[in-house]
Amino acid sequence: MPATPYYLIDKSKLKSNMEKIAYVREHSGAKALLALKCFATWSVFDFMSEYMDGTTSSSLYEVKLGRQKFGKETHAYSVAYSDDEIGEVIENADKIIFNSISQLTRFADQASGIVRGLRLNPQVSTSSFDLADPARPFSRLGEWDVAKVEAVMDRISGFMIHNNCENADFDLFDQMLGNIEEKFGSLLARVEWVSLGGGIHFTGENYPLDKFCARLKAFSEKFGVQVYLEPGEASITKSTTLEVTVLDTLFNGKNLAIVDSSIEAHMLDLLIYRENAKVLPNTGDHPYMICGKSCLAGDVFGEFDFENEIKVGDRISIQDAAGYTMVKKNWFNGVGMPSIVIRELDGTERVVREFTFDDYVSSLS
Ligand SMILES: Cc1ncc(COP(=O)(O)O)c(C=O)c1O
Repeated sequence: MPATPYYLIDKSKLKSNMEKIAYVREHSGAKALLALKCFATWSVFDFMSEYMDGTTSSSLYEVKLGRQKFGKETHAYSVAYSDDEIGEVIENADKIIFNSISQLTRFADQASGIVRGLRLNPQVSTSSFDLADPARPFSRLGEWDVAKVEAVMDRISGFMIHNNCENADFDLFDQMLGNIEEKFGSLLARVEWVSLGGGIHFTGENYPLDKFCARLKAFSEKFGVQVYLEPGEASITKSTTLEVTVLDTLFNGKNLAIVDSSIEAHMLDLLIYRENAKVLPNTGDHPYMICGKSCLAGDVFGEFDFENEIKVGDRISIQDAAGYTMVKKNWFNGVGMPSIVIRELDGTERVVREFTFDDYVSSLS
C-alpha cells in the first residue's frame, strides 16, 4: 500500500462517467472534449481518449499537454494570448477560440491558417457563486454585442459559450440554451460549430440523458452546427479519493483529527468556495472535525460522523477529489504533496507519481 497522502483514481468509476459521455456522443452527435483546467492527470488520458474526442484548454501549456498526452481534437482557448505564445498555441491546436474581438483582430495574420472561433457571453448563467459566474457584472469572458460580432463573422466559423456551472438540472440547461438561441440565433445560423462549454452535470445520477441528447440534437439541427461539450467535472466526478492518515487527535470542545494532508494545499477549490469535503458513509456516533496539517487556522476538511473512535494511524478517504484538485495543488507550508495512484480495472493499484523534497525545492529558487 503506498504511503499517504495520495490521490487514488479508480478507473472503474471513471469508466462509468466515460460510458455516459460516449452515450451522449452517440445519441446526440455532440463531440466531447475534456476540459484540462479541471483535470489534467495525463496518466489516464489513454483510457479517457477511447471515450472522448479530445481536449480543450485555457493556456499554452494546457493546449500542449492536450496535444501531446491526449491527442485527437485539440481546442485552444485563453482569456488572452500574448505575442510570444500565440505561434506555439496555433502549432498545437486544431481550433483556436478567442475571448474577444480585439484578440481575434490582433492575431488575424498569425491565425489565418487555423479554424477560428469566438467566445460569446449570453449574460446569464447558472452559477450561484459570483467568483465563478461568467455572466457577473463587467465580465471579461466573451463578447455579447451581436452587432459587433456580426462585423467579424467572415473571420470565424464557430462559437464557444460557457455559462453553466455544476448544473445538474436539465430544465435549467434547456432554459439557458433557449436563451442562447433567442439572443444569438442569427449568429449561430451562420457558423459551422458551437461549443456549449462545461458545467453540465450530465454524468450525475438520474440525469435525463435521453432528453439531454434530444435537446443537443435539436439545437445542432436547428442551426446546422456541430455541437461540442467541454465536460471537466462531469468527466471525472466521483472517480477519485484523497487518501490520508490521522496524525493526531485532540479534544477542544469537539473531537478533532489532524491528517497528513491539507485542504489549502491539496483540495484548495473547496476552501475557495467555502465547501466541505465529503467523507462516506458519514454515519455513526462519533463526530470528528477532520483538519489539515498546515498552519492555516481554517485548514478544515469538514465535520463528519464515524462508526468508531478515530485513532492515530487510521486511514480516511476524502471523496470526490479529482476535479480542480490535482491541477491546483501547491506547496503551501512545504506539506508533502500527495502521490498519484491509479486503481486499474482489475483492482490492482499502481503509483504513477510521487513527489519529493527535490520537487519542492525545484518549484522555487
Ligand atoms: C470555457 C470552459 N469550458 C469548460 C469548463 C469546465 O467546466 P466543468 O468542470 O464545470 O465541467 C470551464 C470551467 O470553468 C470553462 O470555463
